[in-house]
Amino acid sequence: MQDVEKIVARALGEFAAAQDPAALENAKARFLGKSGELTALLKSLAVLAPDARRSAGAAINSAKARLEQALEDRRAALADARMEARLAEEALDVTLPGRGRGRGGIHPIARTWARVEQIFRSIGFDVADGPEIETDWHNFTALNNPENHPARSMQDTFYVDLKDAKGLPLLLRTHTSPMQVRYARTHRPPIKVIAPGRTYRVDSDATHSPMFHQVEGLWIDEGVSFADLKGVFADFMRRFFESDDIEVRFRPSYFPFTEPSAEIDMKFDSGPLKGNWLEISGSGQVHPAVVRNFGLDPERYMGFAFGAGLERLTMLRYGIDDLRLFFDGDLRFLRQFA
Ligand code: PHE
Repeated sequence: MQDVEKIVARALGEFAAAQDPAALENAKARFLGKSGELTALLKSLAVLAPDARRSAGAAINSAKARLEQALEDRRAALADARMEARLAEEALDVTLPGRGRGRGGIHPIARTWARVEQIFRSIGFDVADGPEIETDWHNFTALNNPENHPARSMQDTFYVDLKDAKGLPLLLRTHTSPMQVRYARTHRPPIKVIAPGRTYRVDSDATHSPMFHQVEGLWIDEGVSFADLKGVFADFMRRFFESDDIEVRFRPSYFPFTEPSAEIDMKFDSGPLKGNWLEISGSGQVHPAVVRNFGLDPERYMGFAFGAGLERLTMLRYGIDDLRLFFDGDLRFLRQFA
């Protein structure tokens, strides 16, 4: 039968052209469905003579079987193509290098802090720690810096919205010097201690940050003098900077809690500030009024104190010209010390 082969050819063409399962099933309905073309042909057999009906029936059934096979194949091909597309879309490139976990490093200030502790421990100093939120008495009054004294304005203070037992506002310690008082009141002479830690002032420029670090030093005994301060501090500097010829100067200064007082400056020997002096520490002979506040007799006990800036020491050691770099968190800067 001519008709059957024509229908098969068209059906195969439409199956092949179907780009998705829905189109394919529509094509199937057009040929093999209840009112499909091939089904209609099968129904028309009823009017034929028995012989003709047999041969036509065989031809139609074979056509039907071929179409069903083609339909199966096309269904499988469409399902494969769909799976391929999905796999391609969800593909993971397992050959990409992993992200890994970066190696941390010690912050340059932490490195200085550890170095300072190590050097002072080696010459018999204890290391103490104390509160960053201080009372007015420990931060100022006990250090011979009474209320309303103009020397308080040397340090622009952050006050906390809380009051101490005397009704005075608590504050963020402006220096590590209150640790002199805390430590000396709880230890017997000889008192030989350093107290490194964070300090706070309303101050911000290339050599000041609102949060910074100091290390306090205190040595009190019978007959400890300003000469001992010079000896101990110079020895510390030589060991910290690993050099015998560092340029240091003691410049007369004023602090309420020391008399005489000196500012210790050091010269940059490298970096953009080479040749410039940088103040690294306040220092002096502890004032008798402060020794009395320690609970000690100033006729018998005397000694020295200093308060050095850890950022300043670090700047000099590495030739850094801006202290704010330490706190920017810029890895390009910090990596250089890792
Ligand atoms: N506390 C002083 C300051 O921060 C430094 C200092 C400490 C001076 C000890 C003398 C003795 O400016």
